[in-house]
Amino acid sequence: MSDKDEAMTTSETAAGATDTLAARPEGETLLRVSGLKKHFPVTKGLFKRQVGAVLAVDGLDFDVRAGETLGVVGESGCGKSTMGRLITRLLEPTAGTIEFQGKDITHLGTGDMRPLRRDVQMIFQDPYSSLNPRHTVGAIVGAPFRLQGVRPEGGVKQEVQRLLSVVGLSPEHYNRYPHEFSGGQRQRIGIARALALNPKLVVADEPVSALDVSIQAQVVNLLDDLQAELGLTYVIIAHDLSVIRHVSDRIAVMYLGKVVELTDRQSLYNKPMHPYTRALLSAVPVPDPRRKAAQGRDRILLQGDVPSPMNPPSGCRFHTRCWKATEVCAKKEPPLVALETGHQVACHHPENAADQEPGDTKLLTDLPPQATAEEPTPTTTKN
Ligand SMILES: Nc1ncnc2c1ncn2[C@@H]1O[C@H](COP(=O)(O)OP(=O)(O)OP(=O)(O)O)[C@@H](O)[C@H]1O
Ligand code: SF4
Ligand SMILES: [Mg+2]
Repeated sequence: MSDKDEAMTTSETAAGATDTLAARPEGETLLRVSGLKKHFPVTKGLFKRQVGAVLAVDGLDFDVRAGETLGVVGESGCGKSTMGRLITRLLEPTAGTIEFQGKDITHLGTGDMRPLRRDVQMIFQDPYSSLNPRHTVGAIVGAPFRLQGVRPEGGVKQEVQRLLSVVGLSPEHYNRYPHEFSGGQRQRIGIARALALNPKLVVADEPVSALDVSIQAQVVNLLDDLQAELGLTYVIIAHDLSVIRHVSDRIAVMYLGKVVELTDRQSLYNKPMHPYTRALLSAVPVPDPRRKAAQGRDRILLQGDVPSPMNPPSGCRFHTRCWKATEVCAKKEPPLVALETGHQVACHHPENAADQEPGDTKLLTDLPPQATAEEPTPTTTKN
């Protein structure tokens, strides 16, 4: 284990992990993302006329520092995977820039990207579909060497067997096929493949969500150990706040293609500033009833579905579901601003801040229905 929490236990994956970590010292910026967008065109008819676009990622700004884990969390469809595929350059961005180690890689072609592929690797969500069933474990984990034309000292076989040991598998698994392994073991094979070329940045898209809860903790702890041993930098995408809490140094919360809050783990869990983050956190089960009472956590039930990313709401995208929304929220998009503490939040009336009250403008909930087309519908219930 690194300087993070003590090893994650099975019950922590199912509920909340304890928070004991002091903030990790800041490393140099490894990855810098500015104004990043990905709009997928929506076409219609024989001639595939474009009739709209899915604004999957719609203006992201964030840094990833060497040696840290940036957790990315948000509801289904908010653009997490698209963001992961953009920063690993598996998708071409519509706008914005991506810098890796100070170099602009936003529009590098396949040839220019080849050396970078060694430094930036991805672990995929589904260990069942991400491994070719017709290839042996040796061929799968050894593929990056062949693709990059790299000949490790001692040969590919020996290096693959070493990698299998590193991720907790047996070197004898070299000639076996993926179907002979459990989900957790398959994810270890995927991790070994990602580590083959000694990457600097690993982007893991929901690395444990397809696994049984009892196995999740093992894989999360493996990722932690590998980071400490190999000095890896992670971007870990997950919708499970317990997993994100355990693995992350800093956390970005996404809503409808935007980052709405970004800060270190302790600030986010202890003093969330964006109402959406507060709602997400209120839904995480707290195993100890005394702790729950001490935190005075009211469960906030967000009403309605996430709006369509084809036609996001005006102003603050969360205003159709926010219990604090005022007129300004529906009209003006709040920028993601960094406070003195380094906490970044995009909200006109943030929580845990001096100006958190809506002030002299009226809550949208207080206005008559005709005054607003998209009325927020708040509900708070005692959990
Ligand atoms: N290739 C594509 N073409 C068109 N739309 C896409 C494409 N890929 C993703 N989308 C849309 O972009 C939006 C964001 O998708 P994305 O997969 O990034 O979300 P996510 O946050 O990873 O969700 P989940 O938690 O369910 O994995 C969704 O509305 C999705 O339907
Ligand atoms: S208070 Fe306004 S700006 Fe803040 S999240 Fe709610 S709707 Fe958005
Ligand atoms: Mg996804």
